[in-house]
Amino acid sequence: MSNLVITGGSRLCGIIEVPGAKNAVLPVLAATLLNKGTSILENCPELDDVTTMLEILGALGCGIRREGSRIEVDASRLTASSIPEALARKMRSSIIILGALLARCGEVHVSYPGGCEIGLRPIDMHLKALSQMGAQIDGINDGILRCRAEKLTGCEILLDYPSVGATENIMLAASMAEGETIIRNAAKEPEIDDLQAFLRKLGVQVSGAGTGVIRIQGTREIKAEPVHRIIPDRIVAGTYLAAAAATGGSLVVTGVIYDHIGSVLYCLKRCGCRIKNYSGNVIALESNGNLTALDLVRTSPYPGFPTDMQPQMVALLSKCRGTSVVVETVFENRFRYTEQLMKLGADISVQGRTAIIRGVDKLKAAQLEARDLRGGAALVIGALAAEGTSSISGVNYIDRGYERMEKVLSSIGADIKRVET
Ligand code: EPZ
Repeated sequence: MSNLVITGGSRLCGIIEVPGAKNAVLPVLAATLLNKGTSILENCPELDDVTTMLEILGALGCGIRREGSRIEVDASRLTASSIPEALARKMRSSIIILGALLARCGEVHVSYPGGCEIGLRPIDMHLKALSQMGAQIDGINDGILRCRAEKLTGCEILLDYPSVGATENIMLAASMAEGETIIRNAAKEPEIDDLQAFLRKLGVQVSGAGTGVIRIQGTREIKAEPVHRIIPDRIVAGTYLAAAAATGGSLVVTGVIYDHIGSVLYCLKRCGCRIKNYSGNVIALESNGNLTALDLVRTSPYPGFPTDMQPQMVALLSKCRGTSVVVETVFENRFRYTEQLMKLGADISVQGRTAIIRGVDKLKAAQLEARDLRGGAALVIGALAAEGTSSISGVNYIDRGYERMEKVLSSIGADIKRVET
C-alpha cells in the first residue's frame, strides 16, 4: 500500500500532455473480443484498470502484447467464456465485456459486479436489452451471472436513461447480431464515439454515436487487423486544470479535445480563470487563486457537466469566495469524499444529492483517506491548496484512473511524494 504525501502552497505551473482515456480504452478492449484478428491500440493509458482488463482478456484466451501505450490483442482463439471472479470484482466495468463475449461465444459466466462507493450501480438496463436481443439470463443467485444466446437478433431498444455502459454493451452485442439494432436514448459521451470508430475499423456498420440514436447492422464474422488511437482523457485533463485553478497556477494541457471538456472549462471560466483554446487541442489556464463561487453546478450526461468531475470541482469550490451549490444527478451516493475534504477545513453540507459549499480562506493539512477514484483526486486537489503537509491513503483507487499522478504533479511544481507504507 502507499500514501501520497503532499505539502500544499505551490502554484502549479507548466505543461502536461493528456494520456489516452480510461473510459474509452476499456470498452474498445472489450470490443477486441469480437475480432478473430489482431487489434492494435495506441495511446492507451498505463492504469491499473487497463492492466485488469488485459488480465481478463488473457484469461479468456487472448494473446496480449503491451509496450508502453501500445497494446496488441489477438482474439483469434478464445478458450473460455467465464470471467475469473477475482478479476471481475477488481473492476466494476468488467460488465462491458458481457455483450462482446455473448456475441462471440454464445455463453458468458461473470460475477455480478457489486456496487461501489458512489452508488449501487445496477445493470438492469444491460440485462433487459440483452434479453430483448434473445439472451437467456439465469437468476443471479450465487452472485454469478449466467447468460446464454444461441443467436442474438437485432431489435429496437429504448434506454430508460442514457447509460454509458449499457449503450456500449448493446453496441458490442449488436455487432454480431442478426439484422439491425437501434438504440434510442443512447449515451452521447465522446467514449461512445471512439467505440463506434473502432467498430467501424472492424467492419461493423454502425452510425449515430453522439446523436442519442445509434444504429448497428450486425455481421456474422469479424476478422480484421485494425489500428486505433484512443481519444484523450477529458477527465484527467479537467482534473489537472482544476488543480492548477485551485493553486492559483498557470497550466497548459496538450493533446486534449476542447469540446470534450467544454462544460468543465465553462465552469472554470465562471469561477474567474482565464482560459485560452489553441487550435482545439491545446488549452491554457491562468488562475490568480482568488476565485469566486458558482451559484449552481448540476452534473448530467454528456455534454452536460460530467459526474466524473464533480468531486474535483467541489474541492476547487471549497476555496472559492462565496457559496456554491453542486447537484449530483447521475449517481446517488457520490459525496462521501466530502467528509474527508472537511478534515482540511472545507465547509460543506450535503443533503441527498445536493452539496452546499461555503468557500473558506484557508484549508489546513490533514490525514486523508481516498475511498474511490474521483473522490481521491478531489482530496489531492484539496491537499495541494491547503497549508501544511497532508497524507492521503487509498492511493490504489487513484492509480485506477491516473497514470503516476505524483510524477505528473511534481513536473508542474507540486511538492508531492508517494510513500510506501
Ligand atoms: C461510466 O460508468 C463510466 N465508467 C463512469 O466513470 C461514469 O461516471 C459513468 O459512465 C457516467 O458517465 C466507465 O466508462 C468505465 P452509467 P457506467 O451506466 O457505465 C444507472 C470513473 O470515475 N444505471 O452511465 O457504469 C447507474 O446506477 C467512472 O471513471 C442503472 O440504473 O455509468 C447510474 O446512476 C465512475 N442501470 C447511472 O445509470 C443500469 O443498467 C449512470 O450510469 C446502468 C446504469
